[in-house]
Amino acid sequence: MAGIEIVEVAPRDGFQAVRPFIATETKVALIEALAATGVPRLEIGSFVSPKALPQMADTPAILERARLPAAARVMALIPNARGLARAVEAGVREVNWVFSVTESHNRSNVNRSVDESLRDLAAAWGGLGGDKPRLRVSLSTCFDCPWEGRVPEAAVVRCVEGVLAVAPEVELAICDTTGRAATNHVGALLALLLTRYASDRVRFAFHGHDTYGLGVANALEAYRQGVRIIDGAAGGLGGCPFAPGAAGNTATEDLVFAFEHMGVRTGVDLGRLLDVADRVAAIAPDQSGGKLRAVPRRRALSGFGAESRGVGAATPAG
Ligand code: COA
Ligand code: ZN
Repeated sequence: MAGIEIVEVAPRDGFQAVRPFIATETKVALIEALAATGVPRLEIGSFVSPKALPQMADTPAILERARLPAAARVMALIPNARGLARAVEAGVREVNWVFSVTESHNRSNVNRSVDESLRDLAAAWGGLGGDKPRLRVSLSTCFDCPWEGRVPEAAVVRCVEGVLAVAPEVELAICDTTGRAATNHVGALLALLLTRYASDRVRFAFHGHDTYGLGVANALEAYRQGVRIIDGAAGGLGGCPFAPGAAGNTATEDLVFAFEHMGVRTGVDLGRLLDVADRVAAIAPDQSGGKLRAVPRRRALSGFGAESRGVGAATPAG
């Protein structure tokens, strides 16, 4: 069975949700340990206003200090032109421009209307010189909004078409920011978007949260609809500080278990991941989540893929 690409977002979506500042060296050690699990891509931080999110202020320092395998792809979140310029200056080769499908969440998160965010993206991306980084655009609140409830498909389509008009080569992350998307809603929206827009140049990712216990089900449904890029956060940490009631990302270890268990390769060493996930969760135990960490380790890993079996030792953390 074909594999999927897991994107590990704990260092961004996970850490940003934690109030007390996490020391830069702790972040670097965890990022290096996460990369050592074999996960192919990591979102290591964001270039946002340090007043809005003080926890992300050390992203440039992390980029300088983290020693990652050559094959690991590094992505950083940006909310505006300033963020894009800062990311490019820091040498980031993959940026994740975020805005929301719903007006109220976009206002809360990036202080813009949806049209203003689209105009900003057009100006900033169009104005960037030749050697552009890879572009992901994350569309927040594609299914449910803390203020507007269920999100109409037409609102998502409008944003997707707005992005494609500006950036015909792009990865579009369809985000369930609150974790409240019903699984058949995920299926219906992704079926529509992939049928209409997916191509060699336009790829889709699914970014889910596990607030209501639907994270793994929704990721599996995204896979069933043809999505092959799935976000997760080790230890189930995460949540948008600007979306009331939104809790942790779907735990990467739960996703890796679910996919590998049905024969879909992730390239991630589950034993190592579980060890790092415990360390990530220990940063904010009351904000962590996921199921697999609670299963006795030997049982969780027994009969599992050869590459994971017996590999339970902690990765030296830099
Ligand atoms: N990086 C660093 N600083 C930035 C910045 C960026 N990308 N964009 C703006 N700023 C600074 C400005 O320099 C200004 O600083 P000052 O007050 O010292 O003069 C301040 O932030 C406000 O700038 P402005 O352009 O008016 O921004 P805003 O008030 O409209 O806020 C955002 C918009 C996007 C900068 C802010 O809401 C933000 O960073 N949000 C974070 C969103 C996020 O990460 N959410 C979680 C992930 S989904
Ligand atoms: Zn998220």
